[in-house]
Amino acid sequence: MILHEQYRKEKVNDRKIIYYPNGTSRKGVLSMIYQNEPEKADLLSMDITEEQKLKLKQLFPHVFNEDKIDFEKLRQTLGGEVDTGRERYGMTWPGKAECMKIIQQPTIATLKPCKEESVDFDDTENLFIEGDNLEILKLLQKSYYGKVKMIYIDPPYNTGKEFIYPDRYSETLDTYLAYTGQVDDKGIKFSTNTDTDGRYHSKWLNMMYPRLFLARNLLRDDGVIFVSIDDNEIENLRFLMNEVFGEECFVGQVTILCNPKGRSQDKYLATCHEYLLIYSKTILPKGALDVPKSSEDIIAEYSEKNEKGRYRELELRNTHREFGKHNRPNLYYPFYVIKDGTLSLNKVENAIEITPDWDDGFEGCWTWGKVKAEAEIEDLVAKLVNGNWKMYRKAYASTPGEVARKQLKSIWKDKRHHTEKGQKTFNELFIIKEKIFQSPKSVDVLKDAISMTQDKNAIILDFFSGSSTTAHAVFDMNKEDRGNRKFIMAQLPEPCDKNSEAYKAGYKNIADIGKERIRRVIRNIDDEQKQDSAQTIRSDETKEKHRLDLGFKVFKLDKSNFTIWDGAIEDDATGEGITKQLKLIVENIDPYSSEEDILYELLLKSGFQLTTSVNEIELAGKKVYSIENDALLLCLDRELNKEVITEMAKKEPARVICLDEGFSGNDQLKTNAVQIMKSFGVEDFRTV
Ligand SMILES: C[S@@+](CC[C@H](N)C(=O)[O-])C[C@H]1O[C@@H](n2cnc3c(N)ncnc32)[C@H](O)[C@@H]1O
Repeated sequence: MILHEQYRKEKVNDRKIIYYPNGTSRKGVLSMIYQNEPEKADLLSMDITEEQKLKLKQLFPHVFNEDKIDFEKLRQTLGGEVDTGRERYGMTWPGKAECMKIIQQPTIATLKPCKEESVDFDDTENLFIEGDNLEILKLLQKSYYGKVKMIYIDPPYNTGKEFIYPDRYSETLDTYLAYTGQVDDKGIKFSTNTDTDGRYHSKWLNMMYPRLFLARNLLRDDGVIFVSIDDNEIENLRFLMNEVFGEECFVGQVTILCNPKGRSQDKYLATCHEYLLIYSKTILPKGALDVPKSSEDIIAEYSEKNEKGRYRELELRNTHREFGKHNRPNLYYPFYVIKDGTLSLNKVENAIEITPDWDDGFEGCWTWGKVKAEAEIEDLVAKLVNGNWKMYRKAYASTPGEVARKQLKSIWKDKRHHTEKGQKTFNELFIIKEKIFQSPKSVDVLKDAISMTQDKNAIILDFFSGSSTTAHAVFDMNKEDRGNRKFIMAQLPEPCDKNSEAYKAGYKNIADIGKERIRRVIRNIDDEQKQDSAQTIRSDETKEKHRLDLGFKVFKLDKSNFTIWDGAIEDDATGEGITKQLKLIVENIDPYSSEEDILYELLLKSGFQLTTSVNEIELAGKKVYSIENDALLLCLDRELNKEVITEMAKKEPARVICLDEGFSGNDQLKTNAVQIMKSFGVEDFRTV
C-alpha cells in the first residue's frame, strides 16, 4: 500500500493507525492496517474535491506541484482570461461558501433495500429511493457518475408555504434521522420557509445549489436537465443554473400554460403559467432535442402517399438567397422535362430546361447535387406554377430507421399540459375525488420532456419526485414506443398533515404516495397486457416480444451498516477516544443490519449501480455474491477459511471484498489471503 506522506502514523497495541485525510481534510478518517494486510474498502461517498482536482489535472497537468495546485502557474496559463478585478459579474448570497463545504462533505449514510415495498425486486432496473435527496445524490456519485441521460425536477417553488429542507454542514444525515423521527431532533427546526423569514431567497438557494451541483455530475455528456419553476424563483434559478451548468448550455425556458383560469388570489395579474427551464451538460448539436412527429402531425403535414409512405413536396431550389451559382457552382445545373412529365439530367431535344433561377434573374442553386438527383430522380417532380417551371422533391415522413422529427416550441399550451389534467390522471388512478396529492404535474409535460432526450434506453432521474409523475410517464412512454428507459425517483418521506386528505386516506408521508402510484400504474399496465395477450391470436406470435420492466426496487436512506470514523476523535488529547474508536472499528458492523443491507452498501460504495446483477454462488461451502459476472466477489461469511479464499481467487475477479470479522482475529489467514489473491493476479482485495 502506498501511503501519502501527510498520513499520520501511530502505533497502538502493535497496530499501525493511519489517519487518512478525508475529502475536506477537516477532520480525517481513521483506519488501521497491519503490515501486509488487505486494504480497507472505502465506505465514504465520492470525494468531490479530489474529483474536481483530477479534472483540472487532466486539463493542466503542469500546474500541479507535488499534488498541489500552483495558482500562479494556472494564472499564467490562462493569461488574460483570469478575472482579477475587484468588481466581478456573478451571483452571491449569504451561505454560498457554506454550500461548497456541504458539497465536499462526504456522506457516511447508506441506502438499505426494502424488498417488501418493491415490485419484482430481483429483475427490475427502476429505483425509488426514500430520503433526503442531498444525501442520496452524494451516495449515487460513485455508481451513477456520468450515467444519467435526463434529470427532471419540480422543487419547492418557494411560495412561502412549502417546507425547505434545512441542510446542515457535516450533520446532514443527523438532520434526516431527526426529521424522520429516528433520533432526538436536537432542536433542529422543521418548518415552512415563509417570506417573512429573513434570508428567504438565500435559504432556497442554499438548498438548491449543492443539489444542482451534484446532479450535474450524474449527467452524461449528452444529458439534459429540466426544472419546473414559477415566478417566485425563476430569475434566481436561471442565475444559479448559469453558474452550475454554464450559460452556453442554456437550452431554453418553456412557458407552460398550466392553469388557464388564472390564480384569482394574485394581487395584480391572475397567473396562469409556469416555466420549464432546460440546460444540457455540454453544448448539443442542432436537432439533438427534436421530438418525433405524432401520427396526427404526419397526416396533416404529409398530404401525399405512395408505396414508400407519406410525403410532402418541398422546393428543390435553395430558398436562401445567400446561396447561388456564384458560391455553389456544383449545385447549379439544368433538369429537362419532356412533355409527359419525364425528367432527365441530360439534354433532350424539345424538352423544357429548368434551372434554379429566381424570377428576377438571380442565379440560385439546388439543394441536391447532380449525383444525388440522378440516383433519386423518381423522387423529383417538375411542376408549372404561375407560368414558371419549378422542381420539387418528395420529402418522406420517415425513412428506414429514421422518424420525422420536429422542434418543440417555447410555449406549451395544450390542454394535456394543464395541471388540472395531472390532477385528473392522479385521482383516476387512486379512484378518489379528494386531492390526496396537490397539483401533480401532467404526465404529458413529462412525456414531452422525455421525448426530447431521444434515447429509449435512458436513465431518468427525478430527485424531487413527489407523487412519481416522472415514473408514470416513463412507464407510459416505454409502453407506447417499446422503450427500455429506467427511472430513479428520490423523495423525502415528508409527513402528511394529520388533517390532510392524504393522511385520512392512509398515507403517512409523500414517499408512500409516490410508491403507491408506481404500484398502481404497474398493476394497470399488467392488467392491460394480460387482456391484450388473451385477445392475441396465435398468428401474432411472430411479433417480436418487448419486455416491459414492470417493477421497481425501493431503497431507504439510513445510517451506514458499518462504524465509519468521521473524525472528531483526532482532536482528542487523552487517547481514550482513540481506544474507544478502535474497539468500534474492530466490532464495526451494526448487529441489526441484514446481509442484504451490507451487500448493497458495499455495492454502492464500490461504484456498482443498485440494479446491477447479483448472483449468489457457493464456493467451498460458503455463500459468495458474484457481481456482474465475477467483476466483484463479495463474501460476508463470519468464518472465512483458506479454501474459500482460494476458490474466490481462482475465479480471477477484478476485486474481492470480505468482512474483517470473517478472519476472526486470525492474522496469519489474513496475510495468507493477500498472498493467495496476488498469486492469482487479484490485486484489489479489500476488507471492511
Ligand atoms: C412540487 S413536489 C413534486 C411534485 C411532482 N413533480 C409530481 O408531479 O408529483 C416537490 C417534492 O419534493 C419533495 N422534497 C422537498 N425537499 C426534499 C428533499 N430534501 N429531498 C427529497 N425530496 C424533497 C417534497 O416532499 C415534494 O413532495
